[in-house]
Amino acid sequence: MRIFEEKIVTLRQVRKKIFLLGFKSSYLAPRAQPGQFVNIYLQEKDVFLPRPFSIHKIESDIVYLLFKVRGKATQALADMAKGESLRICGPLGKKFDWLAMAKYKRVVLIGGGIGIAPLSFLGEKLSSLSSQKLLFVGAATKKELVVKKELRNYGFMVYTATLDGSAGEKGDIVSVFSRWLEKERIKGKDLCVFGCGPWGMAESLQRVERTYKIGKVWFSFERVIACGLGVCRGCAIETKSGYKLLCQQGPVFNLDEVVFA
Ligand SMILES: Cc1cc2nc3c(=O)[nH]c(=O)nc-3n(C[C@H](O)[C@H](O)[C@H](O)COP(=O)(O)OP(=O)(O)OC[C@H]3O[C@@H](n4cnc5c(N)ncnc54)[C@H](O)[C@@H]3O)c2cc1C
Ligand code: FES
Repeated sequence: MRIFEEKIVTLRQVRKKIFLLGFKSSYLAPRAQPGQFVNIYLQEKDVFLPRPFSIHKIESDIVYLLFKVRGKATQALADMAKGESLRICGPLGKKFDWLAMAKYKRVVLIGGGIGIAPLSFLGEKLSSLSSQKLLFVGAATKKELVVKKELRNYGFMVYTATLDGSAGEKGDIVSVFSRWLEKERIKGKDLCVFGCGPWGMAESLQRVERTYKIGKVWFSFERVIACGLGVCRGCAIETKSGYKLLCQQGPVFNLDEVVFA
């Protein structure tokens, strides 16, 4: 892990409030692993704490982030331009051992909203697996739905959902996944899942995991964090084996271990 400065090489809006940003980094590109994230420092934009973003994909030595505008930092990032410099710290978080997914007959990626961000990088790594590959992706409306065409190219069968029914099935993506399990009479033990999205999505995915006795579910948490370096302890998540720091022992956790209050 290192703090470094790189210039933005691409920045464009891809959906409502959703932007794709790329920077060249010969340091990060060969080191980063799926599930890991970077901290972006924007003090010159009056943003005190760094902001974490998952590594979305890496092409050659260009690292891409996919982000949604929520507040001051993400708006400042969206307002930047090609050629401007970014102060970045990474790679952060524990590497996700994606090879552990190889022993399952079916691998499922589930992204809720901007939770699609880390799935392209992981999907690329999984593309060589012989397992059946499925992607479930949901958003509030069609305008916010990001379905990455590269995931189709990596061999993923894609299911989509929106809360208002403007694209794909109507409803939340975990319900769509659960209906698919029921309809296809899938044996849970043959399945492993990697999800990313809001806290409530993780909670309902855990219920589905337990109902269908799914082989394994990992979840990447995108909660608000502070230092990102294991110092403030403000990112603790309760698990069956005690509190764990999202920024150090996560952001990916075995979902069955997580305790929801
Ligand atoms: C490990 C990790 C990886 C992440 N990866 C990504 C990513 O790839 N793309 C991306 O867009 N975001 C990602 N996030 C979330 C991102 O860091 C926040 O959206 C960002 O810090 C918001 O900063 P802001 O100053 O724009 O908004 P703030 O001013 O901090 O917040 C504005 C409003 O949005 C709410 N909010 C902020 N973040 C979240 C959140 N994560 N979930 C729900 N509500 C929130 C706040 O409570 C507040 O009400 C990640 C978070 C973590 C911990
Ligand atoms: S964010 Fe400070 S310890 Fe994790």
